[in-house]
Amino acid sequence: MTNYLQLSNITKTYGHFTALDDVSLSVDKGEFVTFLGPSGSGKTTTLMIIAGFEKASGGSVEIGGQSISQLAPHERNIGIVFQNYALFPHKTAVENVYFPLQMRGVSRSQGLRRAEDMLSLVGLKGFGHRHPKELSGGQQQRVALARALVFEPSLLLLDEPLGALDKNLREQMQIEIKRIQRSLGVTTIFVTHDQSEAMSMSDRIVVFEKGGIEQAAAPLDIYHRPQTSFVAAFIGESNLIPATIASAVAGTAESPTLGAFDYASTDVLADGQKVTLLIRPEHIKLSRNPIDGRKNVRMVVETIVNYGDNALVIGRAGDIPMRVRVLGADVVIIKEGEECCISWMPDAVFVITR
Ligand SMILES: Nc1ncnc2c1ncn2[C@@H]1O[C@H](COP(=O)(O)OP(=O)(O)O)[C@@H](O)[C@H]1O
Ligand SMILES: [Mg+2]
Repeated sequence: MTNYLQLSNITKTYGHFTALDDVSLSVDKGEFVTFLGPSGSGKTTTLMIIAGFEKASGGSVEIGGQSISQLAPHERNIGIVFQNYALFPHKTAVENVYFPLQMRGVSRSQGLRRAEDMLSLVGLKGFGHRHPKELSGGQQQRVALARALVFEPSLLLLDEPLGALDKNLREQMQIEIKRIQRSLGVTTIFVTHDQSEAMSMSDRIVVFEKGGIEQAAAPLDIYHRPQTSFVAAFIGESNLIPATIASAVAGTAESPTLGAFDYASTDVLADGQKVTLLIRPEHIKLSRNPIDGRKNVRMVVETIVNYGDNALVIGRAGDIPMRVRVLGADVVIIKEGEECCISWMPDAVFVITR
């Protein structure tokens, strides 16, 4: 893998407001990278700077070792799909897809042929003659995707392209986009605020918060080894327990509420260090009585949410809110308002230092 797209120390200010603060990121050729973060965290601004629609206040953007900061958007050879990047309403689907080729001086006969091929790739063979209003929302986004890909862009940028679609269509399009991206090998940055979308589609997830990158890592790393409390809370469901390292050598921590804990961590930690302990809900067992060999804690059950095959049990251990994910049948042992026992193994406890 080679470092292909390089963002170095990008900042963006609007008056006194800092929208991006020292964003650096390398993306490999062919990689599918997702920008994930809450609204206003700087995802779109970063994409706009890469595309050339916004100018950075500082820092540089390079593709293949060449700075593109001075190039106009159309000179960057980047394909873009936005949530509401409208197609030309008076052009047919195939004319829409042909448009970027026309701009590049490709002849009409050859360009239309390539546009038709691209429509086939996105699953719209035979739809080329239709106008946008004769296509569903999902089909229109496929046309937009074909238009962004037809000129073999050096980079594909997708900003919440599935935001307007309903859940089933959205999931279908996630799989489609992934398939098309793989088959073309095009380096892709996909923006979403939907964590399951990010988890299922990406080679790597970049978590944005307040104009900065919290963590950039493979989806399962982000889930199992979040580097900050923000990432732990934002991705998946989490129990976060404030604690102090009691003995780094022994691997024990102390929570004011829950008492002494064993943890399994390879990080370098210091006695007395303030940390946050992360335990995912699916790593906690629910029982009537304590179970030998595990850390056991009493929990008052407040709410049980049944999903059929599993249930989420929400309660409180002392003053700490806790969430426990149990298989459907296990939840029968307990009722809302009752006290139960929750327990976990040391290797379920992940130590977060930031
Ligand atoms: N043209 C602008 N003028 C002033 N503030 C802006 C402008 N564009 C974006 N911002 C601000 O920059 C921050 C990041 O915005 P954006 O990148 O769109 O976030 P995201 O895409 O993650 O939701 C937000 O607080 C937003 O209000
Ligand atoms: Mg945005």
